[in-house]
Amino acid sequence: ESTLGAAAAQSGRYFGVAIAANRLSDSTYATIAAREFNSVTAENEMKIDATQPQRGQFNFTAADRVYNWAVQNGKEVRGHTLAWHSQQPGWMQSLSGSALRQAMIDHINGVMSHYKGKIAQWDVVNEAFADGSSGARRDSNLERTGSDWIEVAFRTARAADPSAKLCYNDYNVENWTWAKTQAMYRMVRDFKQRGVPIDCVGFQSHFNSGSPYNSNFRTTLQNFAALGVDVAITELDIQGASPSTYAAVVNDCLAVSRCLGVTVWGVRDSDSWRSEHTPLLFYNNGSKKPAYTAVLDAL
Ligand code: XIL
Repeated sequence: ESTLGAAAAQSGRYFGVAIAANRLSDSTYATIAAREFNSVTAENEMKIDATQPQRGQFNFTAADRVYNWAVQNGKEVRGHTLAWHSQQPGWMQSLSGSALRQAMIDHINGVMSHYKGKIAQWDVVNEAFADGSSGARRDSNLERTGSDWIEVAFRTARAADPSAKLCYNDYNVENWTWAKTQAMYRMVRDFKQRGVPIDCVGFQSHFNSGSPYNSNFRTTLQNFAALGVDVAITELDIQGASPSTYAAVVNDCLAVSRCLGVTVWGVRDSDSWRSEHTPLLFYNNGSKKPAYTAVLDAL
């Protein structure tokens, strides 16, 4: 195959990309994105601050620009993200307790109803666990509403759009030996045992010198899949873009039948949120990097 998306589709998977609405007018960017990928995640446009800037006033202008571009170009869409401690609008940051809990529920209902039946996977909850060795939840205004906020978010999401796969998404959960990975595993196992509606786990996979790729990532993916959830690599970027590391990540997904696909977090290095890491598959001029070829050959 000659594109990443078509190559991934040979095994029933997708190869996706994070898209920024304000870059779609750049023809080099839009040409690569349209050609190479068959799944799209909005890099920022479906987040809470973008979609509900004032309480009760939803705004889908930027989100729909990404969504409509994706659909017009034949791509499926991952929704990102509904409940998160970060990129909250000011009004939400100032809430607590039962008012914040209700605002979270209202936000999930408002965004999911706008896109009902149109989203392949939703990142319902993002980044709820703490880094380091504690295995604890991250302290946040949402966590302080009660630790059942995550399961409430998933139950709300299931009722709002039964056709979307509902994912929990996090970073630094790729290495099986890390406490954060184990904590997420215990949560997913508990949710499956108690019937909390969760369908998938997203592994962001922002690999860098502080949290490098480890070959036990495949074990992690296999162990989560064995709990009865799908897995996905949702925000892949690799500091330095080692071709062999990119190929290893792709091979880890291909080795797990419940791995739905891989999404890279941007098109060219200059589009990356960590552009100084040169972590992506395309040079700033739009030409393919060695990591691109390694990924295409692995797929
Ligand atoms: C990042 C975007 O790439 C940046 O443009 C923005 O300034 C901050 O957020 N984990 C996530 C993503 O789930 O939403 C983040 O995206 C990167 C880390």
